[in-house]
Amino acid sequence: MTDTWNLSLEALAFLRTQTSATPTIGIILGTGLGGLVDHCDIECSIDYATIPHFPVSTVESHHGRLIFGTLGGKSVVIMQGRFHVYEGYTAQQITFPVRVMQHLGVRTLVVSNACGGMNPLYRRGDLMLIDDHINLLGVNPLIGANDERFGPRFPDMSEPYSIALQTLARERALALRINLHRGVYVAVAGPNLETRAEYRFLRAIGADVVGMSTVPEAIVARHMNMSVLGLSIITDECFPDHLEPVRLEDVLAAAAKAEPHLTALVADVIAHLP
Ligand code: HPA
Repeated sequence: MTDTWNLSLEALAFLRTQTSATPTIGIILGTGLGGLVDHCDIECSIDYATIPHFPVSTVESHHGRLIFGTLGGKSVVIMQGRFHVYEGYTAQQITFPVRVMQHLGVRTLVVSNACGGMNPLYRRGDLMLIDDHINLLGVNPLIGANDERFGPRFPDMSEPYSIALQTLARERALALRINLHRGVYVAVAGPNLETRAEYRFLRAIGADVVGMSTVPEAIVARHMNMSVLGLSIITDECFPDHLEPVRLEDVLAAAAKAEPHLTALVADVIAHLP
């Protein structure tokens, strides 16, 4: 058994030499969503590479920093840069920072990502609130011996994304006049995008969008009974009957265009958290 409990406490002990912050809100920023950091009063910023047992990000579009600060009047910890199955990390490595967040005092996790839209009503640049997910990663971060100090062997998944947080997000989106879909995110390992037949399959099994992240972190957060809020930027349209080639530049450009809306929404939701 890899001793995630003790390793995450060692990471915590290091962080405690850097900051005395006690954030109750953790935020994981996905592809091209780093702008939220500009809305944050940063207290300290710590490179992943210096934190014991933290994986180090290999994707150029992701920074690798843990940022402590204040957002919307609340103490937050932000992961700028996340880890993916396609990079070769295990699901346990990907979710290690969420274990550390729990030790820091985080009880609410906000996760964001870029994804492909399969629901025909969704357009490139739209935002979606994640109501539910389907795990097709082929891995699960909870496989292996269960540590009861984190949570139960068979965690409930009837409400993976908090209904209360979804309600708040929808209220705030309305107040800010931001169009917010609500749907199901399916996670695949990647790194290739899907074939037409795969998009048809993923749509048929009930997914509105497809991406390569978020689900491991959400599972581990729920294992520890954190409340999860998930938000997606639709960066490409995945309609199998007229599928166009997708370039990474286009994905990043769509994410950059939608980013101000997502950033405004997340900052406002956090300001309105009880
Ligand atoms: N498929 C999977 N992941 C993605 C996509 C996609 O079309 N777009 C952005 N992330």
